[in-house]
Amino acid sequence: MRVRTSDMIERIEVAFFPSAVPVGLLGSAVVVIDVLRATTTIVHALENGARAIVPCLEPDDAIAVRHRLGRAGVLLGGERDSTRIAGFDLDNSPASYTAEICRDAVIAFTTTNGTRALQRVANAGASTIFCGALRNRHAIVEALEATGAKNVLLVCAGNEGDISLEDLLCAGAIAYVAAVRSPGTVLSDGARAAALAFRMSAARLTDAIATGSHAQTLAAKGFLDDILLAAKIDASDVVPIYRDGEIRIHAA
Ligand code: MLT
Repeated sequence: MRVRTSDMIERIEVAFFPSAVPVGLLGSAVVVIDVLRATTTIVHALENGARAIVPCLEPDDAIAVRHRLGRAGVLLGGERDSTRIAGFDLDNSPASYTAEICRDAVIAFTTTNGTRALQRVANAGASTIFCGALRNRHAIVEALEATGAKNVLLVCAGNEGDISLEDLLCAGAIAYVAAVRSPGTVLSDGARAAALAFRMSAARLTDAIATGSHAQTLAAKGFLDDILLAAKIDASDVVPIYRDGEIRIHAA
C-alpha cells in the first residue's frame, strides 16, 4: 500500500549505537531498537497486559520507583550480564512476561543497553519516542507515518557501545518497508546499508540473527527461545511510546 503524500516520511537516518545520537533531536521522531532483548520484551509485556514500563538506568533507580509508586502492582524487571538482577522479580527474557504476570502491572525496568538508549534519546529532546523491534516492525512504520513526522531517526541500542547485528537488521527492516510504502522517502547511507543487509537476510532472518555475538551469548546462557521469538517479524501490532518517564501502548 502507498501512503498519502501528507503522511510521507521525508528522511530516515540510523544511529548504529547510542553515542551516535545527535544532541538535539527536537522535531524528530525516534525509534529505539534493542531486538535482543529490551524492546522485544517491552512489546511483549505490553501485549500481555502490562499497564506501563518505567525505564531506569540502574537497579537502584528501579527500586526507588517501586518505593515511590508503592509495592502493590510494581514489578522489578531487567538484567545485568543477561541474567536476572538479585532481588528482582523478572529477568529480561520476553518469555518471563506472561499475561498472568503482566496483567495491569507497572514494571520498573533496567537493562544494560536498551534502557540507556531510551534515556539518551529522551535527554536529546525527541518529540516522539517509539520502541521498535522486529515483532512490531510494520506497526511502527504505520505509527511513524501517522505522527506526520518528516524526519525519523532509528536508534540501535547496540551492545556495550558497539554495533549489534540484530538491531542493524531491524533498522533496515523498518527503513525498507517505509521506503516501499513511500518511494519518495530518502534513506541516509546508513539507513540504505541497513536496508540492504535486511533484504539480503530476510529469507533466513532467524539464522542471520543467530550468528550475531549477542545471540550467541544468549544461546549459551539457555535463552535460544528468546532469539526465535525476537526474530518473528510483524507478529505484533503493539507500538510502545515513551513519554513522561513511562512506556505505554501508543493509542493511534
Ligand atoms: C540490553 O538492554 O542490554 C539487552 O536487552 C540485554 C539482554 O539481552 O538481556
